[in-house]
Amino acid sequence: MNRNTVLLLALSSLFIFSCQDQPASDSGQSADREAALSPEDSSLYLARGKELALSTFSAMSSELLAAMQRGGVEEAARYCNLAAYPLVDSLSKVHEADIRRTSLKVRNPKNKPTEAEQQQLLAFQQLFEAGSPMAPVVRPVDANTVAFYAPIQIQPLCLQCHGKMGETLKEADYAVIKELYPEDAAIGYSEGDLRGIWSIRLRKKL
Ligand code: HEC
Repeated sequence: MNRNTVLLLALSSLFIFSCQDQPASDSGQSADREAALSPEDSSLYLARGKELALSTFSAMSSELLAAMQRGGVEEAARYCNLAAYPLVDSLSKVHEADIRRTSLKVRNPKNKPTEAEQQQLLAFQQLFEAGSPMAPVVRPVDANTVAFYAPIQIQPLCLQCHGKMGETLKEADYAVIKELYPEDAAIGYSEGDLRGIWSIRLRKKL
């Protein structure tokens, strides 16, 4: 593991774990509602969700950095698809989970939010705009499934591909991204901005 990777891992734990856990609020979550989770279940699924989000983020970050060192943004953009990471596959199998990232402004049309995700994105966006802390949440989905959501915030490294055109995002780099993702809407961000969420479906232990 090189120095950059270590730094990134440290940063990633900051961005996923910096906020204190808050109890799930009732506002606007009807789509994901079934029976409420017990406090014990909530902590269990929150812990599993965080672990999965962090492992996935770590794997992606190290591969992303390696690709950027090999061939810059162009090379990295081609390797960026979450679904392309074998680790996500194996984590999903081991934990019987479905791991996704989504956003109010997507780059990859496959990451478009579902209705439940859209509600959660808007709830986090409100907290973000109010300057309130954003903490991961879990919601019951059905008898077998729990949804985990956690905010994803922009770090300096992300700006090379999601930043402001002509400032943090180079036009030549963006041309490559636009070629791969013609409908891209995921630019114009600054450090600390809410970029999107992890959306992880966990299988309930019966
Ligand atoms: C080398 C360019 C590059 C860098 C650096 C980069 N991304 Fe992305 N990002 C992409 C590409 C390409 C996609 C679309 C592929 C996919 O589905 O993962 C994407 C997709 C995403 C998505 C999924 C939602 C969507 O818009 O499709 C999120 C969330 C995201 N990036 C956040 C980040 C964060 C946070 C960082 C910094 C830690 C980051 N990205 C760094 C290129 C990059």
